[in-house]
Amino acid sequence: MRVVVIGAGFVGLTTGVVFAEQGHETIVVESDPTRVSSLQSGLVPFHEPGLQHALNECISNKSLTFTSDLAGAVVDAEASFICVGTPQGPNGAIDLRFIERAAANLGNALRNQKNPHVVAVKSTTIPGTAADYVAPIVREASGRPIPVASNPEFLREGSALHDARHPDRIVIGMDDEGASMLWDLYSGFDCPKMTFSTTTAEMVKYVANSFLAVKIAFANEMANLCDDLRIDWTSVVEGIGQDERINPHFFQAGFGFGGSCFPKDVAALSALAEARGCPSGLLKAALGNNAAQPLRAISLLETGLGNLEGKRIALLGLAFKAETDDVRETRALPIFEAIANQGALAICHDPKAAETFRSLAPQATIVDDVYAAIAGADAVIIQTNWPEYSRLDLDLIAAQMVGDLIVDGRQTLDPAACAKAGLRYRGIGRSA
Ligand code: UDX
Repeated sequence: MRVVVIGAGFVGLTTGVVFAEQGHETIVVESDPTRVSSLQSGLVPFHEPGLQHALNECISNKSLTFTSDLAGAVVDAEASFICVGTPQGPNGAIDLRFIERAAANLGNALRNQKNPHVVAVKSTTIPGTAADYVAPIVREASGRPIPVASNPEFLREGSALHDARHPDRIVIGMDDEGASMLWDLYSGFDCPKMTFSTTTAEMVKYVANSFLAVKIAFANEMANLCDDLRIDWTSVVEGIGQDERINPHFFQAGFGFGGSCFPKDVAALSALAEARGCPSGLLKAALGNNAAQPLRAISLLETGLGNLEGKRIALLGLAFKAETDDVRETRALPIFEAIANQGALAICHDPKAAETFRSLAPQATIVDDVYAAIAGADAVIIQTNWPEYSRLDLDLIAAQMVGDLIVDGRQTLDPAACAKAGLRYRGIGRSA
């Protein structure tokens, strides 16, 4: 099939690559000309494991192309996927401005096309958006009764390609049979395939993300209590995880959830619920808990060092999670700001996210070598669980630091090994 993907962000690019790998002639349409030319020359504009190689393969076998010419791209195409951002607007509500623009441009581009075409919204949109917002815009602009479906994406950054190649389920929301040809696109995938209404499919995505975010907030609250009681949270998770109603996954305590999805999606669902008169106390509590959680880093520092004024703190890990250079809603930012507000100096390091973090905090001191961040430090905070941090030479760290305090927010180091090297270990979710 000939498929158009609108938006060359995380979801759009990964989706485009995977459709191309499935043998579909795939065209990714991106409005930013710099990004288009970089992609045309085979450069992925962000760090995502495996994506660069996969992109090069698809470009060389000509299954994947890039353009900013939407009208040209849709000629003879059977489906278009809208993969643009749905950021957080005022009061947490969803901001649909990119969706509106994509829908209108797509409708205009389809006006002179005769072949059957389905529009699928892959962007995360609140229930009712595909049917009541996108469909009227596309139909009005195209002058055709084009079916509009919802096809939420569940991939995670850092494992986007794997998740898109091996989805645990595919959900398509459609309100008329005309959209069912979308399933032909997914015929090569062996996983549960579910057809719902568009609003149900949209809600599936929000409930999935909100549940996972609430689960993390719960894990953090329990882990904080466990830390206070000197109980190891990771052992508790082992104990509860055998109950299959609970399961051990996605219970990793830390400095809170960040990224481009959970914070904004929970806020958008909460705003929707409140606007409809449905209390959303649980969602609001999860957001409140998540806003407070990074400050655990500061209280652990203060417990270990006393007043932070004039202290030098190595802040390891700026990305919102490992294996990405994405710093959207990273917990590193509130930690960095709180360190500065206490009159201490943060020396930062990240294997991939130095540049992206600099755009959030231009004043940050970021060094390329992790040991250069640690040298002379009174304390080290591990904010992101990059695998290389778990392999740090603890004896070298102990020799290079001025102090001896390690604040491990992501269960990256072994407390016993730290103690053996003469380091004081304080972590979230793992008692020393
Ligand atoms: C998430 C969803 O997992 C994915 O299905 C959806 O499509 C997009 O949003 P992503 O934001 O890429 O994916 O990353 P994820 O691995 O879910 O982590 C989100 C945040 O939660 C990160 O900050 C991570 O550090 C944190 N997290 C995750 C925890 O604190 N503990 C965990 O156990 C898991």
